Amino acid sequence: MEFTVAITGASGSIYAQQTLVHMAASGVVERINLIMSQAATTVARVELGIDLAGAEKAKINRWLGLPVDSRLVHLHRLDNIAAKPSSGSHPQQGMVIVPCSMGTLGAIASGAGTNLIHRAADVTLKEGRKLILVPRETPYNAIHLENMLRLSRAGAHIIPASPGFYHRPQTIEALVDHLVFRILDHLGVPHSQVTQWKGLKQQPGELINTSEE
Ligand SMILES: Cc1cc2nc3c(=O)[nH]c(=O)nc-3n(C[C@H](O)[C@H](O)[C@H](O)COP(=O)(O)O)c2cc1C
Repeated sequence: MEFTVAITGASGSIYAQQTLVHMAASGVVERINLIMSQAATTVARVELGIDLAGAEKAKINRWLGLPVDSRLVHLHRLDNIAAKPSSGSHPQQGMVIVPCSMGTLGAIASGAGTNLIHRAADVTLKEGRKLILVPRETPYNAIHLENMLRLSRAGAHIIPASPGFYHRPQTIEALVDHLVFRILDHLGVPHSQVTQWKGLKQQPGELINTSEE
């Protein structure tokens, strides 16, 4: 499988890191086209303390815990609008933008994109491939909501970075991964965690999270 993963300047760089880590660990993803916006590198520096601006392949691989010479992740410059993900004739299964800023979301929703992330998303939609957006902002204004509705109607999957707590996460990693596994579910990438809700059996005075069968 091949995917494009874009990281933009919304809060939640860790979601991007873990999405890439779990894609790499899946064993079925053979190539990842990685695109980062300038703001994404600023946010990663603030949130993860890592400088990804102008990062080379080896640094990205180290960041993801991959062998330095791994050829899984192909880094594309944001201004390289001739890179492989810019064309629908380049076969791949889909694209995820994680996290997705309101700026990038608006650019894609308007169809007036200016960089490789916008172009690749536009191409993914026009080819009828899976486009997943993981927006993060709070609160949403009417423009954000209208843009999400517009994109949803155009075929995009909106998976907001709003993690659930029903699996009782004990660590930030567990909280993050729960969302990441939902993203992978939508992309059809296998992972080790069970994300399927088994049903809740209600008995007098207690709630049991178990299979209904
Ligand atoms: C630390 C930090 C956190 C940010 N968090 C968000 C956010 O959660 N959502 C958002 O839409 N923009 C956020 N921004 C603003 C975006 O980075 C900014 O709008 C940027 O222009 C987006 O550009 P891009 O879409 O090309 O990445 C944040 C900026 C910084 C510096």
